Amino acid sequence: MSETQAPALRVGDLRKTYDNGVEALKGVSLDVAPGDFYALLGPNGAGKSTLIGIVSSLVNKSSGKVEVFGIDIDADRDAAMRRIGLVPQELNFNMFEKPLDICVNYAGFYGIPRAQALARAEEVLKEALLWDKADKMSRTLSGGMKRRLMIARAMMTKPRLLILDEPTAGVDIEIRRGMWKTLKEINAAGTTIILTTHYLEEAESLCRNLAIIDRGAIVEQGPMKSLLAKLDVEGFLFDIDGGIPAALPAIEGATLTVADDHTLDLDMPRAMDLNRVFAAFNAAGIRVRSMRTKANRLEELFVRLTSKEGAAA
Ligand SMILES: Nc1ncnc2c1ncn2[C@@H]1O[C@H](COP(=O)(O)OP(=O)(O)OP(=O)(O)O)[C@@H](O)[C@H]1O
Ligand SMILES: [Mg+2]
Repeated sequence: MSETQAPALRVGDLRKTYDNGVEALKGVSLDVAPGDFYALLGPNGAGKSTLIGIVSSLVNKSSGKVEVFGIDIDADRDAAMRRIGLVPQELNFNMFEKPLDICVNYAGFYGIPRAQALARAEEVLKEALLWDKADKMSRTLSGGMKRRLMIARAMMTKPRLLILDEPTAGVDIEIRRGMWKTLKEINAAGTTIILTTHYLEEAESLCRNLAIIDRGAIVEQGPMKSLLAKLDVEGFLFDIDGGIPAALPAIEGATLTVADDHTLDLDMPRAMDLNRVFAAFNAAGIRVRSMRTKANRLEELFVRLTSKEGAAA
């Protein structure tokens, strides 16, 4: 298969048992298409970092196959690694170095000549909105800037596949949104992105395809849209004009609760007619000013899948 047709990442029946006997991966298979934005979701200890560690050659697999753009990591590890940029979960650059040096030195590990590395560093630091900090001690960067520096550094080698392990863990929503924008731009420019995240909202807003992994096995995978469509429950929030009555109307098959003093929260089966809801609201004198879909559908799916598997285990 030529490199352009091959998946950006192909993982086949991947297994990992650590020395202490923990079976972290129990036969994981997945394909990530070139150009995709792919999420790996899973609870703590699911095996996400183990999977990423194996793909990026930081962890040895017990068995199975890993191909990066058609290159088997066992056959030519260096060639596979040259196509990957890794952003590990923990900040791991030297806080006493400057962003420019961090980027240039990183390129040096990959044998990129210094003059070329300097030019590239200017590009990636500008893209990360860090060019004005290029000569400042990294320690003095804000938390969000440090995260962006991690991404900028990984982009030094122009990787065709960028892998990020919980890139936004512990950063506030504003910084997270800024990073989403950066990642979308990197993806739009042609880089395939795989990320792990605990933030379901992050996966929903960024990724086209995803795998949900639990206890070392994939419990669901496919396009984000078709996974969400599988859900048979829909949630809505209604902004209410005036007060909310003390006794809420009963709507058969649905669950209506008070979210706050001007918002009602409704969960209802997908097949149910919204007219019934409005009829009940009218009868109770509730005036709806606006309504919106709840953004927690992926969360419902996630909880359902991982707890179902848990019960079966
Ligand atoms: N170096 C190691 N030695 C032994 N066991 C390990 C090692 N690294 C991970 N594990 C175990 O393997 C399992 C999977 O861990 P992993 O770090 O891959 O999960 P994760 O999905 O990344 O979790 P989190 O969301 O908490 O980062 C866990 O049970 C963990 O304790
Ligand atoms: Mg992890």
